[in-house]
Amino acid sequence: MKHIAVAVDGPAGAGKSSVSKAVAKDLGYTYIDTGAMYRAAALFAIENGIDIRNDRAELISRLDEIKIALKNENGAQRVYLNGKDVSERIRQADVSVGSSDIAVIPEVRVKLVALQREMAKTADVIMDGRDICTHVLPDAQVKIFLTASVDARAKRRYDEIREKGEECDFEKIKADIEYRDKNDSSRAVSPLKKADDAILLDTTELDFGQVTEKMKELIRNVL
Ligand code: DC
Repeated sequence: MKHIAVAVDGPAGAGKSSVSKAVAKDLGYTYIDTGAMYRAAALFAIENGIDIRNDRAELISRLDEIKIALKNENGAQRVYLNGKDVSERIRQADVSVGSSDIAVIPEVRVKLVALQREMAKTADVIMDGRDICTHVLPDAQVKIFLTASVDARAKRRYDEIREKGEECDFEKIKADIEYRDKNDSSRAVSPLKKADDAILLDTTELDFGQVTEKMKELIRNVL
């Protein structure tokens, strides 16, 4: 039997991961966070002293050394890089910017897209990222483009970090998001772009519960 695929794209901080995770849990699907894979690859570069923007050839020559695994442990998704749990480390600001830089490299994308397509063959999935509707799973039964204004996205990130009791600077968060928006949308290979047949969901004025309900409704309607 063919598995169901729900593809979710959108810019940084639109709430894709948290909403997709909640919807996956409610519907019994497997959630696949493709951004976490680009983040893990960026962390490999950072830990090995490879300058992503300037040492591209070295990075490409070492791609085979990068082994990424997503595991579901007690209902939570954990991200492993070469056997080490890096789930928390990959959320830090240096990795966020690095992941956007590494995502412009075609060889990196080819490797990660192959892995993502394999994962979608094994279960009913909700997969989120930047190119899932347009490139990774163009035949997904449900395609959603989740977005929100830059200010709303920066504010959510800011609140998330403050909730963990950590200090942060709103303007810096907003600048990082703007940098990634530009980088992710303007790259030559698989740029962030709404697929023509994806449903647009603007979450600027919606809270988490409303977005989750709306997404479940869209999935029910399409299926
Ligand atoms: O969704 P995220 O913020 O965790 O993603 C981190 C970076 O990875 C993002 O800036 C762009 C890149 N990315 C991508 O190019 N393609 C994807 N399918 C997912 C993420």
